[in-house]
Amino acid sequence: MIEYRNLRVAILGGGSVGAQVASLLIQHGDELAARAGAGLEVVGVAVRNLDAERSADIPKHLLTTDVESLILGADIVVELIGGIEPARTWILQALNSGADVITANKALLATHGPELFELAGQVGAQLYYEAAVGGAIPIIRPLRDSLAGDRVKRILGIVNGTTNYILDRMDTRGDSLDEALAAATALGYAEADPTADIEGFDAAQKAAILASLAFHTTVPLDLVYREGMSSITLDQVVAARKAGYVVKLLAICERLTDQNGVDGVSVRVHPALIPRDHPLAAVHGANNAVFVEAEAAGSLMFYGAGAGGVQTASAVLGDIVSAARRHVAGGPGVAESTHSDLPVLPISSVTTRYQITLTVVDQPGVLAGIASLFAEHGVSVEAVTQSVGTVSIRDGHDDAKPTATLVIVTHEATESSLALTVGALTDSPVVSSLVSVLRVEGLH
Ligand code: NDP
Ligand code: HSE
Repeated sequence: MIEYRNLRVAILGGGSVGAQVASLLIQHGDELAARAGAGLEVVGVAVRNLDAERSADIPKHLLTTDVESLILGADIVVELIGGIEPARTWILQALNSGADVITANKALLATHGPELFELAGQVGAQLYYEAAVGGAIPIIRPLRDSLAGDRVKRILGIVNGTTNYILDRMDTRGDSLDEALAAATALGYAEADPTADIEGFDAAQKAAILASLAFHTTVPLDLVYREGMSSITLDQVVAARKAGYVVKLLAICERLTDQNGVDGVSVRVHPALIPRDHPLAAVHGANNAVFVEAEAAGSLMFYGAGAGGVQTASAVLGDIVSAARRHVAGGPGVAESTHSDLPVLPISSVTTRYQITLTVVDQPGVLAGIASLFAEHGVSVEAVTQSVGTVSIRDGHDDAKPTATLVIVTHEATESSLALTVGALTDSPVVSSLVSVLRVEGLH
């Protein structure tokens, strides 16, 4: 039997993910030691409540509330507490004490990543975070290592399982948003307070992490444009289906050159229409997928379980094995690459396509008038679909008028031109109501 050097692994957090990591590490210790070239001894699992039920077996004697002693005695510290503090302080302590650190904490990385990576670089330690985006899906290593020789142009990601589950139910079962959210909550996908999921905060954190890696540039969370999906209605989802699209909450990270010739990156999270034959349209339920467009590699898609205790534990365990291998091989950790230092451009610089749905007074010349509003603001119309026959009473008066519903899809236009067009449509006396404005992605 091979005698391996022993590495002490401290796990901070024994919740959904932490309990599974501890249990699997103990269960598969011999096999993982053979892969890592070092024994991986769980020296403790830090929790708040020693008597709470755990979702996986953890020997009672490993549970502790003495976090600082646990950190100081470890070679590898695995942070699975979540949130900013005390996770940040404990990771800094672990790095300062010479340990490698593994975290799944997207909220912390998106807000304090540069501070943590800088310290890791200074002390020669490694900070791994495969589980922070896409749960079980390998996406951090592919971006950092496999695609290190390529040039990533664009990432389209479904990176929040809860919202994908909700939108998928609306699309496939005709649920309202509230019904689908209740189902997501009952299945344990949505948090007790689902705001971070529904309003796109969780996806924005993940987008900041993906963009920083893909474009070798630090992307601060507050420069990520974010719109949630709480205003998406079943009517919009049904209309999208009829038009050959599906509504998804997308994280979009892209390199672009703005109207003044400035090269930069744009990072945004919002609901968008994608064609039903796009690979991301086939991502159902609470799954996640990240679609990467790279200059040489072309299009790649990474797909799988974006959450779940045991699924996420798989990514964490991979990081633990990597950290152990580095300990065995020696040498400093690999620093994050931010050499490109590109500016993060505002949403107004983005160019995309739009679908605008409006009801208008159905009389001669209206369509031409609407088309000229688009043209005046530099937005080119690709297609118009009209359905007639509805009758509305405008402004509560009794001047009932026949109306038509127009669905207008544009060619690529800038967000700023589109915003001006929408303003003009809103002010137009022939527009009864602006039903919806959605971006269309994945067509080019
Ligand atoms: P949980 O809320 O299930 O677990 C958190 C754990 O941390 C609990 O065991 C809790 O102790 C412990 N803890 C919290 N605060 C303290 C403290 N001050 N001192 C000691 N222990 C503390 O979280 P998850 O396992 O779901 O998530 C962990 C991390 O993984 C988060 O960063 C999350 O974003 C990330 N992640 C989670 C995924 C998932 O599917 N769950 C998917 C991808 C990433 P106690 O049990 O005693 O309350
Ligand atoms: N709330 C997140 C989601 C968990 O629904 O995807 C995984 O980060």
